[in-house]
Amino acid sequence: ISNWSSDVNRRGCAFMGSHALWFFPFLSSNFSVHLTMLLRPLMKMSFHDTISISLSTDCIDIISSIRAMKILKRMGSPKGMWTKDARTSKVYVFNGTAEDTVYQFSSVLDFSSSPGMAHSRPIRLPSLWSGTGGAVYNGYAYYVMEGADELQVIKYDLANGTLTDSAVFPVEVADHRPVYSLNPETAVDLAADEEGLWALYTTRESESINLAKMDPDSLDIEQMWDTQCPQENAEAAFVVCGTVYVVYNTRVPSRSRVQCVFDVNDMVTNEEAPLLYFPRRYGVHASLKYNPQEKQIYAWDDGYLILYKLSLKRKLMV
Ligand SMILES: *[C@@H]1O[C@H](CO)[C@@H](O)[C@H](O)[C@H]1NC(C)=O
Ligand SMILES: *[C@@H]1O[C@H](CO)[C@@H](O)[C@H](O)[C@H]1NC(C)=O
Repeated sequence: ISNWSSDVNRRGCAFMGSHALWFFPFLSSNFSVHLTMLLRPLMKMSFHDTISISLSTDCIDIISSIRAMKILKRMGSPKGMWTKDARTSKVYVFNGTAEDTVYQFSSVLDFSSSPGMAHSRPIRLPSLWSGTGGAVYNGYAYYVMEGADELQVIKYDLANGTLTDSAVFPVEVADHRPVYSLNPETAVDLAADEEGLWALYTTRESESINLAKMDPDSLDIEQMWDTQCPQENAEAAFVVCGTVYVVYNTRVPSRSRVQCVFDVNDMVTNEEAPLLYFPRRYGVHASLKYNPQEKQIYAWDDGYLILYKLSLKRKLMV
């Protein structure tokens, strides 16, 4: 049960065409396209010199395939979320969709070698989380609490057990819809990647999934995009290097697949992205949380806690 099964998906190699993706926070994305075109011949000669002008990140990876999967454990609840803090290596289990106790394990090995929640440290959050949209980033738990008329983002210090901050999410309860139609409990899905913290959400007007970049310190929304990815039949999504991958399924679960991508830098388009299939599993994923350090996804599928290893490739090395 705990061996990696390899080569589950050999599809999806020519993901990006010949575009390079750079992150120029001070330029419009159109301008960065042109700049990239101009710079490409240069980069071949002096890659490292050129990269220093991309201020915030050198994250230039895209997914080429889902390489392997590993089932680590079965839990009681069909829905939930588990994730690992990229900075501390601790593993956190959010069992269920409206609970307030997170279970912390000191490592993935500790988690997989102990039955259920044995050997974990329970951490009681100040309120119930809603859905499976939580995230753990840099020692803090971020989750969304659904109040009577507003959605609140809570930031909680996991090391010393204090509420650090909270902010009203700028979409009213009356205006929002579940982010993904196949997981109606999740009002806002928070995601961490190489570039920071993101929020995925859907409003009544938009029909499609929206993306917001969040400041992990202040909880401010820095920028928003309409991904144009439909909410209907979506089960979950994750963000890798500023590109959102939305995963779809059907009500009678079949194979989960990435069928819509959105890149905040406008360099990866749906036309260029092939279908990316997950191996056949039990049902619909309740959550998919990407770990930027390990390049793998922590998934919850009908009570099975799974790791998916991703094959990434450099956007420049095409
Ligand atoms: C997870 O939650 C479900 C109820 O939602 C409960 O039945 C189950 O025992 C929990 N699992 C563990 C390992 O605590
Ligand atoms: C918890 O840690 C944070 C930062 O590390 C600090 O600002 C805060 O005062 C601490 N709270 C308590 C109760 O120790």
